[in-house]
This record gives sequence, structure tokens and C-alpha cells, in this order.
Amino acid sequence: MKIVLSGIRPTGHLHLGNYFGAVRNFVKLQDEYKCFYFIADYHSLTTHPKPEHLQENIRTVLSEYLACGLDPDKATIYIQSDVEEVAELYLLMNMNAYVGELERTTTFKEKVRKQPNNVNAGLLTYAVLMASDILIHHADYVPVGKDQEQHLEMTRRFARRFNNIYDVDYFKEPQPFNFFGKDLVKVPGLDGSGKMGKSEGNAINLTDEPEVIRKKVMKAVTDAGPKEPNSPMSEPIQNLFSILELVSTPDTVEHFRDEYNKATIRYVDLKRQLAEDIIKFTQPFREKYQQIYNDLDYLRKVRKMGKEKAKESASKTVKEVREIIGFKDF
Ligand code: TYM
Repeated sequence: MKIVLSGIRPTGHLHLGNYFGAVRNFVKLQDEYKCFYFIADYHSLTTHPKPEHLQENIRTVLSEYLACGLDPDKATIYIQSDVEEVAELYLLMNMNAYVGELERTTTFKEKVRKQPNNVNAGLLTYAVLMASDILIHHADYVPVGKDQEQHLEMTRRFARRFNNIYDVDYFKEPQPFNFFGKDLVKVPGLDGSGKMGKSEGNAINLTDEPEVIRKKVMKAVTDAGPKEPNSPMSEPIQNLFSILELVSTPDTVEHFRDEYNKATIRYVDLKRQLAEDIIKFTQPFREKYQQIYNDLDYLRKVRKMGKEKAKESASKTVKEVREIIGFKDF
């Protein structure tokens, strides 16, 4: 059976970008594949979270995974740091990753810009840790959003390089995967340009209350409006339509596209509709989330189950890698 694996950093609540880029795939794939879904808490240390925030965010994301429909009886759901074997594989893989290629990674360059006072070695080797997450369970498919494409390319490169150095055919080359279409998804933010993201401050969370969603959507950046029929669409308006396409019915999208093309659109109507459709879309999720978040016994049980299953697979890989590398008994 093919293996699927993916993870999310616990940096707060999941937003629509996380959901449409990743989690809806997770839910879909768990019925047909052997799936590993984890919470990338080692990765989140690159931004130096406070211990109490880290713990809280892990509980939040685990509850959100479950509220979205991840099923611990179908998929292995675990916390990255519960599986220490990942850290060992990361150490070993670091020996075959070159500083030059790591420095050229887009996400690294972005982080250097965003947090110039905290350019730690963990940021530089972020892609190596991510490759270790993926390779440790021999994943075939990795459902992620568009922003993670380069990391997957690097994972394939590290896998190939390991196989070449040790003259083995050990690691597979994992492929990015989107169940819902050919291309990976990029959900835009509400600020006119770029992707939706926690650190960009332009995100709508799955747990946001209706009033918060309305406020955020009504504040979204627009333009002065089409001057004449069939005007080209500016990026902020395209972005609103991209989100509308995810949460609304095709009829609704068509209606507003028509209005735009006739140059009769009122952005306030578009935003109102978008807000109400996001609220409707996220409502079942909001309700389930609170209930799961409060059930600590259940969360502990899920965590323990995932840890045991993930460790079984991970320790086998690390044992084999150690042998390939030459760490053996006399
Ligand atoms: P993270 O935590 O930044 O994001 C989690 C997932 O959500 C997707 N995503 C988006 N997709 C579309 N549009 C957006 N605006 C958007 N924002 C976020 C991301 O593409 C991702 O799939 N490095 C990873 C976590 C990770 C991982 C792994 C993933 C660590 N190890 C191994 C897969 C396999 C990250 O930081 O994702």
C-alpha cells in the first residue's frame, strides 16, 4: 500500500490556507492509503516559541486535525518530538546536505528577511528536518500546499544523494500530491498579494467566530472597481475570487464573475457573500473543535496511539540507516 505523510507546524490555529492546501487532502487520503500525519513541533522551534505557547499550540492543532475529520483509527497521527528517531535521522542526513544549497532555499531566504535577528542553524537546515520526517516513513506522496514544493524537491535530492553515496536503493523519492487537482494549491491572503499565512497576519482561521470572519473579510483589500466591461482583474480581486471558489457554490462564483465582467459589481456585496459562505463552511468545524479540545483524556489517548505506531516505523528506518552508514556491532 502506498504511504502518505504530511505535517503542520503548531504556530496557532489552522487557517483556510492550511485547510485547502493540506488538511482536506489528509482527510480524503486516509481511507485509501497508509497515512502519517504529524505536528511539526521541532520545526516550530526555529522561531523560539515560549514553552507554554508551544504546548498550547500542539493541543490546538491536534484538536483541529481531529475536528477536521482525521481519524486515529485510520491514520497515524503523532507529535514530531514524540518520535526522537526523527532527530537522529536529521543528524545523519545533515552530513550529506550542503550549506550552499540550503542557503539558496526560498523559504530560508524569506526567513532571513523576516527574522534577521534570529537566523539560527535550524532555519538553515529546515529542509533536512523535513526530508527526515518524510523519509523516515518512506512516504510515496506528500500532500502539501504550493509553498512546500521546493522542500519536496530537496527531499528527493537528499534521498537520491544518500542512495548514491552508499550505493543502495534505499530511500524512495516522494512526490507532492493534491487529491483535488493537478497543481498544488496556494490560498491567497486578504491583504491583496501573497499567500495566506499565520505570520503574514492575513489569515482566516477555521475557529474564527462569525463576527471576526465578517470583520476580516470586509477589511480585505480591493481596487477602485472595473471601469468598463471585461476589464482585466487586479490581484486583490482575483484573490477574493480564488477564496470564493473554495467556499461558495459554482453559481455564486459565476454570478459575481458576470457582475464583474459587466462592470456592475459592488465589492461590498462580493465581500458579504464571501464572509457568509466562509462562516457556513467553517461552522461544523468550530463546533467540533471546542468539544475535542476540552477532552484531554481523548487527546492523550490519540497522542499515545500515534506515538507508538510512528515509533515502530521510524525506529526500523533508523536501524537500517545506521547499518547502511556503517554503525554496526563488532
Ligand atoms: P506549514 O505549517 O507552514 O503549513 C502547513 C501546510 O499548510 C499549507 N499551507 C498552504 N497551502 C496553500 N495556501 C496557503 N496559503 C497555505 N499556507 C500553508 C502548507 O503548504 C503545508 O502543507 N514545513 C511544513 C511542515 C512540515 C512538513 C513536513 C510537511 C514539516 N515536515 C513533512 C510535509 C512533510 C510547514 O512549515 O508547513
